[in-house]
Amino acid sequence: MNYPEDFINKIICGDCLEVMENIPDNSIDLILTDPVYQKLEDYKFLFSISSSILKPSGQLICYFADMYLPDLLKFPFGELKWVKLIVERNVGTKGTLWKYHCKTGCKHAMWFFKSPFPKDIEWTTDFIYSKPDGNNVKHQWGKNYPSIYELIKRHTHPNDIILDPFFGSGTVGRACKLLNRRFIGIEISPEYCKIAEERLKKVPKRLDKFINGDFIPKEKIILSGGDC
Ligand SMILES: C[S@@+](CC[C@H](N)C(=O)[O-])C[C@H]1O[C@@H](n2cnc3c(N)ncnc32)[C@H](O)[C@@H]1O
Repeated sequence: MNYPEDFINKIICGDCLEVMENIPDNSIDLILTDPVYQKLEDYKFLFSISSSILKPSGQLICYFADMYLPDLLKFPFGELKWVKLIVERNVGTKGTLWKYHCKTGCKHAMWFFKSPFPKDIEWTTDFIYSKPDGNNVKHQWGKNYPSIYELIKRHTHPNDIILDPFFGSGTVGRACKLLNRRFIGIEISPEYCKIAEERLKKVPKRLDKFINGDFIPKEKIILSGGDC
């Protein structure tokens, strides 16, 4: 496989642990991904390879299950610098940890950068709101569109290259198309590759139309908070 022609704005159906080895060092602006939470060795690899293939000032934002945080923090970060956790507040959906008598309503992502810290990104916050948008119909663990859209918008610029090595149904790719960013999607399941291909053909012009007016206004995302 040749970089960039076989990668940019493509869905690569394969094992990201192998495919990412073909991406040259210092190539990617943002790696935004939602791996399989219990496959901790994949995170170890992700930290290591991100450290190489991110450009200087590139960022890694990676979802995880907080029950694994103590294990994940033991992996070497290489050249990645820890920024902080980003909390995704699930509006309207709650889970229950029966064992701990705890109602849950948040997901978490780890945010790293490769030095130096990007000077020109927008001011941001460490939380976002999400709302079910029906994407888990396409993929059991489909990320919802508004939160991915918002993260890409905040953390990158037009034409930047965004990699999702656990592409699933292609939510990151769709948001990139809408925001004029370039994407690279890697997905191991041929079935999900096909679904993602189809979804990328039908990217709406406006996010709010796509989710039937359920979009949470930017003002609310930026100005309110601290309730998680
Ligand atoms: C949590 S899901 C991602 C869902 C995605 N964010 C979406 O919105 O549809 C993780 C995905 O990673 C894929 N996957 C698991 N191991 C992989 C690997 N080694 N290489 C590439 N994809 C992999 C799974 O097939 C699954 O679709």
